[in-house]
Amino acid sequence: MAETPPGPLQRPLPDGTVPETVVVRTEEHWVTIMVAMLVIMMVILVLTSFVGTLHPASNVEVIDSRTLHLRGEFVESNLGTALEPDGSVTVRLIAQQYDFVPRCVVVPADTPVKFRLTSDDVIHGFLLPDTNVNTMVVPGFVAEVRTRFSKPGDYVMPCHEYCGLGHQAMWAHVRVVPWDQFAGQGLLERTSCAIQ
Ligand code: CUA
Repeated sequence: MAETPPGPLQRPLPDGTVPETVVVRTEEHWVTIMVAMLVIMMVILVLTSFVGTLHPASNVEVIDSRTLHLRGEFVESNLGTALEPDGSVTVRLIAQQYDFVPRCVVVPADTPVKFRLTSDDVIHGFLLPDTNVNTMVVPGFVAEVRTRFSKPGDYVMPCHEYCGLGHQAMWAHVRVVPWDQFAGQGLLERTSCAIQ
């Protein structure tokens, strides 16, 4: 049998050059490792979204960000915490460079809380650490997040979307208090934490 002449890449190579077979094997190993990492990350993402009840907003609600202060749901007198007829509360906030309005809100513990936010300038973020509350606040849209605080405490609320030079100073608070204390407070105290 006539011997097949070796391919150009199978011929003996000068010192220091890696043969094709070694290159192919190494690449296959790295591709396998990368695919495994992607699969692990996807599994973590799906699992945490179920366990932590993290989910994307199911509603798309638009709003005219130029007239927020003039009329509609987000006029100044309507911001802060509002008690609903069914006993739940709704918190309305405006995110703007570089503050949340109002900067502090009071909500009752062990009660369904619905946050409704919008922005009147650029994209901001709204995050309550250790809860399932985490959303972007996009001008022209209303972001809605629902949660329930199991115990009283002070939750800091950082803007977590870079929104300009003052971004790092954009913080607010959610003060969770027992239901009795909440019910006994006046509107101003609930909406702005005015009286400590
Ligand atoms: Cu608002 Cu960052």
